[in-house]
Amino acid sequence: MKLFVFRHFDKAHIGTFIFGLWNVFIVGIVTYTTFVIPFSIAIGEPFYAFAKRELFLTVIYTADIVISLIRIRRKASFMHIEYNAMKSFYRRWIITDIIAALPLAQLLGMPLLQVFRLAKSAKVIFLTQVFRRVMANYSNPILLMQILYWVMIATHCLACGWLLMRGMDHDTDIRTNYIEAVYWTTATLTTVGYGDITPNAPNERIYAIFTMLIGYSLFGYLIGSVAGILAKRDPVREMYNENLEKLTSAARYANLPLELQRRIYEYFRYQMSRRVGYDEEGFLKNLPPSLRGEVSLYFRKEVLENVALFEDAPQAFMFEIAQQLREQIIAPDEYVFKAGDPGRQMFLIAHGIVDVYNTDETKHLRTLSEGDHFGEVALFHDIPRTATVKANTYCDLYLLNKQTFERTLSAYPTIAERIKEKAELRFKDASTE
Ligand code: CMP
Repeated sequence: MKLFVFRHFDKAHIGTFIFGLWNVFIVGIVTYTTFVIPFSIAIGEPFYAFAKRELFLTVIYTADIVISLIRIRRKASFMHIEYNAMKSFYRRWIITDIIAALPLAQLLGMPLLQVFRLAKSAKVIFLTQVFRRVMANYSNPILLMQILYWVMIATHCLACGWLLMRGMDHDTDIRTNYIEAVYWTTATLTTVGYGDITPNAPNERIYAIFTMLIGYSLFGYLIGSVAGILAKRDPVREMYNENLEKLTSAARYANLPLELQRRIYEYFRYQMSRRVGYDEEGFLKNLPPSLRGEVSLYFRKEVLENVALFEDAPQAFMFEIAQQLREQIIAPDEYVFKAGDPGRQMFLIAHGIVDVYNTDETKHLRTLSEGDHFGEVALFHDIPRTATVKANTYCDLYLLNKQTFERTLSAYPTIAERIKEKAELRFKDASTE
């Protein structure tokens, strides 16, 4: 069953998707120019060699400014967060984007002015920031890739600067010249400084100082970023570590038997592997009602999509149910409840297997698994539990309490009828045992 919110893919989304592809293209072009232009300047490429590239960049960068401005104007079709970010970016950086789009080298007849094309890198920085925010799940790997990207670009640009300063050694080919320059830059940036290629002229020494200073800052930034990533809190893992610490001290002071310790440890591990325990409810509480419904539905999407009873249920019903579910883990061989217990909730199985037994547990009635439900008979008939339910494996169950069950079903008679039919069959089954 597909839920409505995930089917929602209209024109605005297609526009955003195409604009996303365009931005990926721009990042590719900017990366290409950041490598090619410094190299072209360093080896003294003549005008005719880069005239086509200049024309191409002027067209593409101008098109990018126009497309981005049109995108900002069509506010309604734009994701709000991106719209605001884009607007504030252009408020500050439109001049750099315009400068990067101008064919200054061609207009003023100075190849060195190609360097102004690199101003477009501001847009790449902005786009990667947006990308990290949109792909919040992968924010850390993206940050690491971003650092690697800028380290490579910085090394390349500094190596080209070094080539320009020293001049080309015409006894060897361009490739060897470049490799030597990158080698010198890496050794200087990392402050290793082997000393086999040394700056002799004053301007070379000044350049070496400049490179070393950049190396320090880059190194500091790198350490800071990696430390930041490591220090980022993962609430579920933190809870797991805390629980393990508590288990260790409980085991020490209360002398817990080894078998019991093992079972507790297994429970914590399962809880972490299923990522149950993440403070979903605390998070949802801080959201406005409209968002809360959608986010709860997203959190519980997998479970609800699997429940055969809710197939083709209206979206409003799913919203309501999703917000009311409570999660519970049951360990293997643990009773969910016994026959005769008062019935206060209905259960949905998100993960795991349970066994249903008759009243005195002499007969196995049924095995239920992911997507099944149980505990509805007692609620419909207002009677104690008609059977015993025991976990066969670790189970994630979602509970729907009696009041919510009754209130929600009274508003959706078709679904109520479906659950009731099944409950009647089970009720007969259980009473004939
Ligand atoms: P309830 O009586 O509330 O608690 C026990 C539950 O076991 C019952 O609701 C049904 O959901 C479930 N149950 C009882 N008999 C059967 C059966 N024969 N097959 C599947 N589930 C059953």
